[in-house]
Amino acid sequence: ENMSTPFEVIGEEKLHQLIDAFYSKVGQHPDLVPIFPNDLSETARKQKQFMTQFLGGPSLYTEEHGHPMLRARHMPFEITETRAKAWLSCMNEAMDEVGLDGMLREYFYSRLVLTAEHMINTSEKED
Ligand code: HEM
Repeated sequence: ENMSTPFEVIGEEKLHQLIDAFYSKVGQHPDLVPIFPNDLSETARKQKQFMTQFLGGPSLYTEEHGHPMLRARHMPFEITETRAKAWLSCMNEAMDEVGLDGMLREYFYSRLVLTAEHMINTSEKED
């Protein structure tokens, strides 16, 4: 019962900095821009809620939006392997930028890799 959650170790402030840095990269990435809204503030707000619970903090996302059902919520968007890699590269750069490292980074990033792979719902177009 004295175990800290990954959310407590990273801290709310740094998690929010990470997500803000991440979406500023998403908003400039040519593979991602076509499927994201121009204004990413609401997307970032929801992602802060989601990542908080993903890392063992309070269930902020579920309290406001219900069960995440992430794969279903991503079905309206064409998520290819290229886009999953782009998403992860933005996250990797954001982690560099906010100085997240060590075991916590490895743990967090490896879970994001698995989740990102699970979101792929479209094969690459041959054009
Ligand atoms: C929402 C793309 C991976 C969590 C979205 C949206 C897009 C998107 C286009 C909608 C944005 C909006 O309309 O506000 C992608 C792509 C991914 C990816 C291309 C690459 C694999 C992930 C991963 C996670 C995640 C790995 C979690 C670990 C979320 C959440 C939302 C969201 C929580 C908000 C859902 C809601 O509207 O309530 N994503 N996503 N996504 N994504 Fe992703």
